[in-house]
Amino acid sequence: MQYLDEKLYEYSRSDFYPFHMPGHKRQMKAENLRDPYQIDITEITGFDNLHHAEGILKENQEAAAELYGAEKTYFLVNGSTAGILAAVSACTGRRGKILMARSCHKAAYHAAYLRELSVRYLYPALDERLGLAGGISPEDTEEALKKDPDIQAVLITSPSYDGIVSPVEKIARICHRYGVPLIVDEAHGAHFPFHDSFPESSLRLGADVVIQSLHKTLPSLTQTAVLHAGFKRVNRDKLEHFLGIYQSSSPSYVLMGSMAVCLRYLKEQGREQFARYQENLQTIRNSLKQMHCLHLLGEDVVGRGNVYDLDRSKLVIFSAGTGMSGPGVHDILRRKYHLEMEMEAEQYVLALTSLMDTKEGFSRLEKALLCVDEMLEKQQKTQGGKTGRLSIEFSDGREAAAEEQVCTISEGMELPGEEIAFEESEGRISAEYAYLYPPGIPFLVPGERISRKFLEKAENLKVKGLMLQGMKDHRMEKIIAVKE
Ligand SMILES: Cc1ncc(COP(=O)(O)O)c(C=O)c1O
Repeated sequence: MQYLDEKLYEYSRSDFYPFHMPGHKRQMKAENLRDPYQIDITEITGFDNLHHAEGILKENQEAAAELYGAEKTYFLVNGSTAGILAAVSACTGRRGKILMARSCHKAAYHAAYLRELSVRYLYPALDERLGLAGGISPEDTEEALKKDPDIQAVLITSPSYDGIVSPVEKIARICHRYGVPLIVDEAHGAHFPFHDSFPESSLRLGADVVIQSLHKTLPSLTQTAVLHAGFKRVNRDKLEHFLGIYQSSSPSYVLMGSMAVCLRYLKEQGREQFARYQENLQTIRNSLKQMHCLHLLGEDVVGRGNVYDLDRSKLVIFSAGTGMSGPGVHDILRRKYHLEMEMEAEQYVLALTSLMDTKEGFSRLEKALLCVDEMLEKQQKTQGGKTGRLSIEFSDGREAAAEEQVCTISEGMELPGEEIAFEESEGRISAEYAYLYPPGIPFLVPGERISRKFLEKAENLKVKGLMLQGMKDHRMEKIIAVKE
């Protein structure tokens, strides 16, 4: 057996380049964090307590609030996951009701389960062929709030994993007209305020709670995140109560130290480093626009399918129409070029970039993608196929996605269940989730009726080598359903 630390160290010496999280890209040089054992302490005198911050942690959180322009900022050491759990719990009552985007991360579903909430969904626009979700419609939000006065909070994800930004300002105004808080999962947008070329953060657009993972797109250690809140519509005591429940009672000083390093770096060097990053990003985006077979998701998506803006730091490369799947492209990038992507979907791969990416890293990715594109073009020519521009066609996501909700998520999970054959489960009520991870957005949620359409989608993904997660049986031969 090889010990994990040995394997990690070995990997860190290899020439594999990360186009995935964490955003420090293994490049950050932090003098004070060079030896983690030296700074790993507990809540001793002079070092404050995250759960009742009155000293250095209070000051550091205030510095974060100032940098982001928030009323109050909380450090999270259990990722955005802890922030989502706490925000949803604080903004709803037990057995209450939430309106949330179907495209939310599984943490939002887990919050609904823990608080036994009933859930109404907002379905983002969808290009079903490409598997690309668009934005959330303000009109749908208004309609749902008008129809259901029991809704206590609204939760959306913006940007999406793919960098799609919803019309947050309009949605916030609607929520406030109906007297409910808007929670925005901005896990992928912690870098937004630091360069004008990125979309505006939800924090400046009226959201009541905004949760951001520092570790995803900024130079901070994995699990570090922040929750920003305003208290006009959110009860501060309740929020802090739930943060105390969902966060570890031993918050790591190594992680919090890395947040401090990140915040100082942004304050002192952010402007200059983001300007350099922006240049590299623009160079690769311009170059990849020339691809003939592969297609880079670009600005043309804005203004359609409720897409308000696009986070240009995410490089979403479609392979649709080339005869090669997303996992196929990723496999070549990994094996031949030693480039590891953040995510592979049926029709695309996603490279997560950050300000810590090197010029050399960008150049390796650019060359590799241009070579794969050339190979695909040659293949298509010999087969007499045509290369053409890919067009994104959004339609109403409700039609493509809606599974019938029979009971709440917690009822679906807590009622007696039984294991049945996957392919014979049509019509039964699921007691399990089914999602691809990443991005962790469920196709099926406990309490929903299993449809033929879902089973066909699952089979289709399996054939392409994409296995659904969330079910006890990872081979997708069995599924747990509520006993009849
Ligand atoms: C949209 C979104 N929200 C929340 C999370 C959870 O974030 P964390 O890993 O920081 O807990 C993720 C993780 O991938 C995510 O993609």
